Amino acid sequence: MADRATRYGTTAQVLHWLVAIGILLMIPAGLIMVRDGLPRALQDALFLFHKNIGVVLFLIVVLRIVWRATHPAPPLPPQMPAWQRRIAAVSHLALYVLLVVMPVTGYLRVRAGGYPIEALDALGVPAMVARNKAFGEAASQVHEVAAFLLIGLLAMHIGAALHHALIRRDGVWSRMWPIGGRD
Ligand code: HEM
Repeated sequence: MADRATRYGTTAQVLHWLVAIGILLMIPAGLIMVRDGLPRALQDALFLFHKNIGVVLFLIVVLRIVWRATHPAPPLPPQMPAWQRRIAAVSHLALYVLLVVMPVTGYLRVRAGGYPIEALDALGVPAMVARNKAFGEAASQVHEVAAFLLIGLLAMHIGAALHHALIRRDGVWSRMWPIGGRD
């Protein structure tokens, strides 16, 4: 019980690491699949993975946001300066926004382009947007720009997490790391 006050709960940790693994697979898959000269079979497999796992990831992200909104984060260490708390809050909010923007624009790009999303099609889920080439291309551009913003923010996020884990050892890392429990 004492752990509850200083660390995220098990559900929050599981959702965090599921999303982390998902994003770290989606980004390279996305970057590789749009390259010219890729063998057709590999490109098809990457698109299949990217679109369908992307939809599953979106559902996990929604669950995660609902969980986070209803379960407050444990407090940060009291010695952490105010500017660092502010940067952490703003960057976490931006990460959540991008975690929604990415799958939504990916979905719009694919559906407005008239392409399949095999898992949704198999389940009989209809497309939620009409075919529209210009709209699909606009969604594709937002998807690409947001991907690079996400990559930048993730680099910051992972860098800060490792800094807390290896150098400061102030308990911030172990709030989210499921193994152990103390720094
Ligand atoms: C968190 C989820 C997602 C991440 C992190 C992500 C990431 C990426 C990245 C890095 C690219 C390469 C951008 C470029 O250089 O053009 C890309 C491309 C693409 N993604 Fe995603 N994506 C996500 C979700 C989705 C979803 C849910 C779909 C569709 C259902 C999707 C469909 C596409 C498509 C079709 C492209 C190729 C862009 C184009 O040809 O216009 N993505 N994605």
